[in-house]
Amino acid sequence: MRNVLFCPPTYFDVIDVKNPFMQGKAPVYKELAQRQWEAARQAFAAAGCGLKTIEAVPGLEDMVFAANQVFAGVTPVGEKFVVPSNMRHPSRGREVPHFIKYFEAAGYRVINLNLTKGEFLEGGGDLLWSIDEKLIWAGYGFRSSESGVQQFASAMRLLGIEVVTLELCDPRFYHLDTCLAPLTPQAVLIYPGAFTEAALALIRKHAAYVYEVTEEEALGFVCNGVSANGQFITSRMTPNLERALQAEKINPVLVDTSEFEKSGGSVCCLKQFMP
Ligand code: ARG
Repeated sequence: MRNVLFCPPTYFDVIDVKNPFMQGKAPVYKELAQRQWEAARQAFAAAGCGLKTIEAVPGLEDMVFAANQVFAGVTPVGEKFVVPSNMRHPSRGREVPHFIKYFEAAGYRVINLNLTKGEFLEGGGDLLWSIDEKLIWAGYGFRSSESGVQQFASAMRLLGIEVVTLELCDPRFYHLDTCLAPLTPQAVLIYPGAFTEAALALIRKHAAYVYEVTEEEALGFVCNGVSANGQFITSRMTPNLERALQAEKINPVLVDTSEFEKSGGSVCCLKQFMP
């Protein structure tokens, strides 16, 4: 059973514009956000994941997006590790120490990259394990920087883990998890317009089956769905997503994430897998 970590939306709010989705999106309906968050967690539990919770901290309005503060993994020889993020926005940077503390207590080795001021890395927003945990897809361009991702890739290479770096080119798809979702060990779901030609070529080289969605589908966060034990937990069902899931024999599970979408996040952003 795989554990998955969530942070309750106790202090969640939209108070600035860190990504294009956040423009003019207040207010957030707090009670609805709480209910949606609970339903999303329960969908992971129903898919066979163990639920873990990190306490929310007052003043950290985006901490509910538990994907970003660290990247968690396990090496080919079975050692659990986390790589702390260097977040582009200072307010989000303040979330990181809380997650490091949590993962340290859970027995993960902390791998510090010692990134400098202009080098950014945003954890599980831009870094996605393939389903078989053989490689990591790493996006950069808007939140993680190229140098941040390169240094991450070097550190992973030392552990024997392959990293495929992908340049993003559309500011609306600011994190990799807004435009790419691993479905099975061989299949990924993507919105091609979010990637440079070179990145698309790399995706096609490393994934045997690449399913594409339209811009409209992607703006509805379907690529922010999460594949877990033969289920795909998603905020919406759309025609191309439905075709991809049918072809891969994956069951869709729908959860409403309207309040989190006001902040530019959906299912994938709310969780951190604890491999
Ligand atoms: N408002 C948050 C931000 O812009 C949303 C983060 C979404 N997380 C993600 N993994 N895409 O930082």
